[in-house]
Amino acid sequence: MDLHILDHKLRVTSISKNGLVNFTHPLIKLIFLRNRTRCKFFSLTETPENYTVVLDEEGFKELEPSEHLKVEGSIWLPLNVVSNGNASSSSQAVGVTKIAKSVIAPLAQQHVSVFMLSTYQTDFILVKEKDLSVVIRTLEEEFNIYREFEGESVPVSVFVPAALQPTVHPVLIPQNQFCVMSLDPETLPSIATTLIDVLFYSSRFPADLLFTSSSGELWRMVRIGGQPLGFDECGIVAQISQPLADSDISAYYISTFSFDHALVSYLFIVINDRYSCQPCFSLMP
Ligand code: ARG
Repeated sequence: MDLHILDHKLRVTSISKNGLVNFTHPLIKLIFLRNRTRCKFFSLTETPENYTVVLDEEGFKELEPSEHLKVEGSIWLPLNVVSNGNASSSSQAVGVTKIAKSVIAPLAQQHVSVFMLSTYQTDFILVKEKDLSVVIRTLEEEFNIYREFEGESVPVSVFVPAALQPTVHPVLIPQNQFCVMSLDPETLPSIATTLIDVLFYSSRFPADLLFTSSSGELWRMVRIGGQPLGFDECGIVAQISQPLADSDISAYYISTFSFDHALVSYLFIVINDRYSCQPCFSLMP
């Protein structure tokens, strides 16, 4: 298995709900007019509390300082696991489940805080730049590590202290069901007005705009955290993804400025650190 350290220096920011109007210009540029910026990594997640925007330094320059913009202090680097064909794992599970044991757990054991961004295609594990040497030392046994630099992948040449007992955070399981989709960037112009409507005018996402969702299954969300989780604690992703991996249950995992969110194909309910699982599949009509 290969691990790539991507050539992006990322900032994790949040825009307050009523501050969004101040950012329509840069956001439209970053999302829709991608040849007008040098931004190469951009992610936006809306939650009831705020908008989380993760973007590289070029993109970050587009966001004017404002009382509505919060910026986490660290530079984050995205890691990406690439399985090179050899089906070493028998698991059919997707998302964070696939990397729970090889990446998430070892990093948590070394007290490395991560910020997860699962997408349809891949799972980005963001780590703080200052933790990079610990990350490389921790993962070099399991992976061939490459650092991407100006389009080239350069191989990174290359003891475990006792794990702390992680804080158990309360979880919230809303009733909504989620669809995980991908969209060919080429078709973005044709749906731009719809997306602008959804993003800036709180319209509902039209049901007939289901792009590529291979199986059509719906996912339930588990929101992790009662108080905002901050950015220094480690082991949150690990304590959610480990038991899911033990049961081979697929999950996407999306960290946001305040809370973490796991999208699971089974609903799992935490009862005094016992996990009971029930399927939550339902096929789209
Ligand atoms: N740092 C946490 C971990 O290593 C995950 C991120 C939690 N913080 C947040 N703002 N979402 O497990």
